[in-house]
Amino acid sequence: KASNEELEDKIRKIKEEMGDRLFMPTHHYQKDEVAQFADVMGDSLQLARISKDNTKAEYIVFNGVHFMAETADILTDDNQTVYLPDLNAGCSMADMADIDQAILGYDRLTERLGTGILPVTYVNSTAAIKSFVGEKGGSCVTSGNAKKVIQWALDKGQRILFLPDQHLGRNTAYDLGVPLEHMAVWDPIHKKLEYEGDDEDLRIILWKGHCSVHEKFFPAHIDQVRKRKPDINVLVHPECPFEVVQKADYSGSTKYIIDMMESAPEGSQWAIGTEMNLVNRLRDTYTHLEIESLNPIMCPCLTMNRIDLPHLAWCLDKIVEGDAANVIKVDENTAHYAKTSLERMLEIV
Ligand code: 13P
Ligand code: SF4
Repeated sequence: KASNEELEDKIRKIKEEMGDRLFMPTHHYQKDEVAQFADVMGDSLQLARISKDNTKAEYIVFNGVHFMAETADILTDDNQTVYLPDLNAGCSMADMADIDQAILGYDRLTERLGTGILPVTYVNSTAAIKSFVGEKGGSCVTSGNAKKVIQWALDKGQRILFLPDQHLGRNTAYDLGVPLEHMAVWDPIHKKLEYEGDDEDLRIILWKGHCSVHEKFFPAHIDQVRKRKPDINVLVHPECPFEVVQKADYSGSTKYIIDMMESAPEGSQWAIGTEMNLVNRLRDTYTHLEIESLNPIMCPCLTMNRIDLPHLAWCLDKIVEGDAANVIKVDENTAHYAKTSLERMLEIV
């Protein structure tokens, strides 16, 4: 078994040999051992833009999860190939909305509420869901532009079906002034609309999905940390549950969280509710601040963490050998409308 040093040497050497032909976009949730090789670090929105505009590299090795690599494949040119170092690096949230469930849910909702439901999907979804949304006239969103895109959808005067993260949908719509009473949850397992109100008032239908990392933050964590450190600022990602976001001092996307740390005053205290690798990196980078995780025990993203030195080195080796293992290729039919929903998002923001 190769040591970490040997694996690092191998990766460095292949990167050097391949030069500009190889590009490695890397999500902020990646481990340091992988992040050190990033050509660019970013959140989902930044990485989607970069895949579209900033690289002509032949080989794109995406250090992130499956839906991000699919997005990169959809947005890049035909002569560019996208690789995911571990094909098992999925996303539990994206897995909560499969395409058959989405079609059935949309049809049932249309039967009950009439036509005019505009689907909008978080980029944390499969290419098939993005394609379904694009074909129906909807758009993708990311946590960094959710407000703008949901406002765009609200301005169309239609009801919105927001997939697959109920929390991002609820938190954002509430921020935009939609009362909770005008939102419902669609449960795709029981095929049921959880809603007590008058159908006429219903504006946003939230798909019953969530992020298994951000759901692990509870209001009690905020109470505990404030008791210990009364001056602490609590900053959370909008994938956290509504009660947590309401209780926090600030909430925003990965980029927003990083920007907040960039401008925070010396000595200020921060409890951050998001993925652990990112929080640890912020703590190690901004040493003039006191940064801690809002829940240090429960918040690694297990699938992001599947990308590690052995997988990255193995994937690069395969590329050198001309082996197509780990290629992420979205079929042409699916890619067509998935691209429409992604480009719509990039036009709105
Ligand atoms: P952003 O990169 O949009 O902040 O999303 C967070 C996330 O959960 C990525 O999987
Ligand atoms: Fe999916 Fe949550 Fe992991 Fe992001 S952090 S990849 S949404 S499980």
